[in-house]
Amino acid sequence: MKTMKMIAIPAAVLALAGCATTPGPDELRTNAIAMMKASFKERGQAKLDRIDQDDMQRLCSEYVGEKVMPKEIAQSLEKAQQALIKYPADGKLLGDWKLGERIAQSGVGKQYSDDPKKPAGGNCYACHQLTKEEVSYGTIGPSLYNFAKVRGYGEQIQRYAYGKVYNSQAFSACSSMPRFGHAGILTEEQLRHVVALLMSPDSPVNK
Ligand code: HEC
Repeated sequence: MKTMKMIAIPAAVLALAGCATTPGPDELRTNAIAMMKASFKERGQAKLDRIDQDDMQRLCSEYVGEKVMPKEIAQSLEKAQQALIKYPADGKLLGDWKLGERIAQSGVGKQYSDDPKKPAGGNCYACHQLTKEEVSYGTIGPSLYNFAKVRGYGEQIQRYAYGKVYNSQAFSACSSMPRFGHAGILTEEQLRHVVALLMSPDSPVNK
C-alpha cells in the first residue's frame, strides 16, 4: 500500500503539469482584457471604451520590456499620427500664458467624479517642470523650463509645441504623454493657452 501511494503522487503531479500549457502572448492579452472588462465598472463619464486600444496603442503594446520597436515602424507610426493633428484654421497658435499656467497646474477632468461639462486640465506638472517657482512637479517627462528660450520663439517651434501637445505620438511613437488634442482632453482654445505658456517671452517658463 505504501509503495502504491508513493507511485500515485508523482503520477498525479505529472498529469497536472501536462494540462497546464503556458498561454501564448495573444491568449494572455485576451485574458487580461477580459479580466479588466469584468472588474472595471463604468461610472459617470469614465466608460469601459477607455480600455479599447487604437491600432497605434496596440502596436506599442507589442514592444515592451526588452523588445525594442524598429526605427522604420516608429517613424511610420509618427507619420500617421502627424496626419491626425488639426492646427487652428485661423493659424493662431498662441493664447494667454496665464490661462495656460492654470491649465498646466490642473489635474481635474475626465475622472468619473469630475463634472464633464467643466473644461479638463492638462496636468502638465504631473510629468514636467515648467517654471522655477513651482516646487512640486513630476519628472516622467523632461523639464520644459526655458523651453522657448533655448529652442527659439519662432513659428516653427510654435507649430512643433502645438503639434506635440495636440498629439505627442506624432513626434515620439509610444510616448507616455497623453494626446491632449487628439483625445479631446483639451480644446483648441486651451491648447493655444498652453502653447503660449511654453512660447511667450513673458511666460515664467522662459524667465
Ligand atoms: C503622463 C506624463 C505627461 C504629461 C501629463 C504631460 N507630458 Fe509632456 N512629455 C512627457 C514625456 C514622457 C515626454 C518625453 C517623450 C516625448 O517626447 O513624448 C514629454 C514631452 C513633452 C514635450 C516635448 C519636449 C521637447 O523637448 O521636445 C513638450 C513640449 C511637452 N511634453 C509638453 C507638455 C504639456 C504642455 C503638457 C500638459 C498639457 C504635458 N506635456 C503633459 C510626459 C507627459
